[in-house]
Amino acid sequence: MRKPMIAGNWKMNKTPAETKALIEDLRKLENRSGAEVVVCPMTVSLTAAAEALKGSEIHLGAQNVHFAESGAYTGECNAASLKELGVEYVIIGHSERRQYFAETDETVNQRTLKALEAGLKPIVCVGESLTQKQQGVTNEVVCMQTKIALLNVGSNIDNVVIAYEPVWAIGTGLTATPEEANATIGAIRAAIREVFGEAADRVRILYGGSMNAKNAHDLMAQPEIDGGLIGGASLAAEKFDGVINF
Ligand code: PGA
Repeated sequence: MRKPMIAGNWKMNKTPAETKALIEDLRKLENRSGAEVVVCPMTVSLTAAAEALKGSEIHLGAQNVHFAESGAYTGECNAASLKELGVEYVIIGHSERRQYFAETDETVNQRTLKALEAGLKPIVCVGESLTQKQQGVTNEVVCMQTKIALLNVGSNIDNVVIAYEPVWAIGTGLTATPEEANATIGAIRAAIREVFGEAADRVRILYGGSMNAKNAHDLMAQPEIDGGLIGGASLAAEKFDGVINF
């Protein structure tokens, strides 16, 4: 019922020229899983990406969006500009944004609302730190993050994707076990159900954190896991191929 999604978060990698080259390689891949494939390049590479993706089945996402319409927010990017470039998805509240750029649950909510208002589909990231995992509060943390991120989203919930990314698993080579990830994602879905009712069953919830060609199959076999948000393994076509075709 939920179409699987494999989204590449390229982070601060790939110049516009490199973006074009990688997209050309990705376009040659066969998509045998039928998953919706998304690539999320740096903001400055979005124009090159949109151009290189013309006529392709691969969808375009950005890595962040500001919550204001426009104004004095040096270095930020507004939703209207992303929309104009042909961006469809936008990652919001990635743990690197929370950790290095002081994003809070409240700004994540504001950015989510602004993205939806502009017709962009947010990929909202939540996840616990290693300390929180060790303290046994993973479900409390991710459910709170999810509920705050989705405040006032209303019927737009159908345009939201959630990415559960344990902070300790990002870029570390450590992954949650498929069972652990499935259980936490189940808890996130239950939290969404408390607020949005049966729409929760339509919301795609991805796993992210060192997902790659080797572990993708087992993660994707879990009933609650609807896809992946892929960092390192999305930066080369041959590696991403193994995840797309989990
Ligand atoms: P990773 O990153 O796959 O390199 O761990 C995932 C992410 O941060 O979205």
